[in-house]
Amino acid sequence: MNIDISKAISFTGVERIRQNETELKSLHKALVNGTGKGNDFLGWMKLPAESEPAIFKRIKSDAEKIRAQSNVFVVIGIGGSYLGARAVIDCLSHPFLPLVPGRQDPVILYAGENLSEDYHAGLMEILEQYDYSVAVISKSGTTTEPAIAFRIIKAHIEKKYGKKEAAERIIAITDAHRGALKKLAVEEGYSTYIIPDDVGGRYSVLTSVGLLPIAVAGFDIDKLIGGANTMREKCLSSADPEKNPAIRYAAIRNALYQSGKPVEILVNYLPNLYYFTEWWKQLYGESEGKENKGIFPAGVSFTTDLHSMGQYIQDGTRLMFETILSVENSGKELRVPFLEKDSDGLNFLAGKRLTEINHMAEMGTLLAHVDGGVPNIRISVTELNEETLGALIYFFEFACALSGYLLGVNPFDQPGVEAYKKNMFALIGKPGFEEEGKKLRERLK
Ligand code: PA5
Repeated sequence: MNIDISKAISFTGVERIRQNETELKSLHKALVNGTGKGNDFLGWMKLPAESEPAIFKRIKSDAEKIRAQSNVFVVIGIGGSYLGARAVIDCLSHPFLPLVPGRQDPVILYAGENLSEDYHAGLMEILEQYDYSVAVISKSGTTTEPAIAFRIIKAHIEKKYGKKEAAERIIAITDAHRGALKKLAVEEGYSTYIIPDDVGGRYSVLTSVGLLPIAVAGFDIDKLIGGANTMREKCLSSADPEKNPAIRYAAIRNALYQSGKPVEILVNYLPNLYYFTEWWKQLYGESEGKENKGIFPAGVSFTTDLHSMGQYIQDGTRLMFETILSVENSGKELRVPFLEKDSDGLNFLAGKRLTEINHMAEMGTLLAHVDGGVPNIRISVTELNEETLGALIYFFEFACALSGYLLGVNPFDQPGVEAYKKNMFALIGKPGFEEEGKKLRERLK
């Protein structure tokens, strides 16, 4: 992984970056020594190097069992309880997997990450047709959206396979002691994985939360773990920006923020990075956006979005910087064909690979946006595979924690998420919320 900040420095000046780097040295120490804010939630930093090897073995053996008995695997969870798995699975999967003839790998479907009746009714129609297994994932074990989805799916799977076989097709991933899901899992005899107490949802992809679905999808979790561990070593061992890319990234993005750029857009040029961007948005948004502070994380997929958001980025209010997540090589080869008549005038591209043209689009856009006043940071990897994804995950997590510290917030809590929950409970009539419900209904008149 490489990080290039040369097209961002002039927007903020070297001095500001150096100041941040100096401050980050002591913040790195606080993070590594566990003396900073939210230090009861630093378990992610030990992952995956210090996880029990037995857990990886169990994940792989459960994944094999699920793959043998199911051609659909449903991941029920919201926020950090599904985005990491979906990010990695989408990056690595065939883009048209369900239509691949003779497909061996189960299709991974998601539930409980929204409250759409159409979505979940459609899902149930599909589950009627296929053999499936389920992972229900919730650290708190009390989150409403996945709990509702699980109620619906539990009733269906029990009807379809009978209670005993259904229980063998359900895996619960939750807290060791607390929450309704833990209680239910014990009562029903589900196989259970524990989310460590000191790992928050959005930092949990390198636990069973992410690794089980990724293994079920057919990807090599050992390589993912290997990539993450190599990056972990880099991030923990040095606070020198030359050696630790997380320091470099945290210093420049905060320098840009301090220079009047409150929006960071993560840019990708590959549609399979869409959910990686969603994971990144959640990680940074929920970690930094508090106390009326924080960079607003946004995402675009180019070249598609060059035909929509491209206009704004080039020419609209100057409030953003871009971080390009660039992938050098494609795993497949597809070249532009030669046309005898050259009726579309594209023969100058004949023989070129799409990746080459995509890179020219990337470089051209980068320079145009810089000329238009948008600083650009470029993070590049050679290809998208388990190893590079593992490294990117650890890198972004570590840089996020450091950035939160530099901003002066606790990057591991999410007090703001409670406000909508309270109102929703009041409006749907949860016992204990009656008075609040009356007040809210008045306001909605
Ligand atoms: O990062 C977080 O903590 C959140 O996004 C949670 O993952 C999300 O709210 C789901 O919570 P839970 O796993 O408790 O159902």
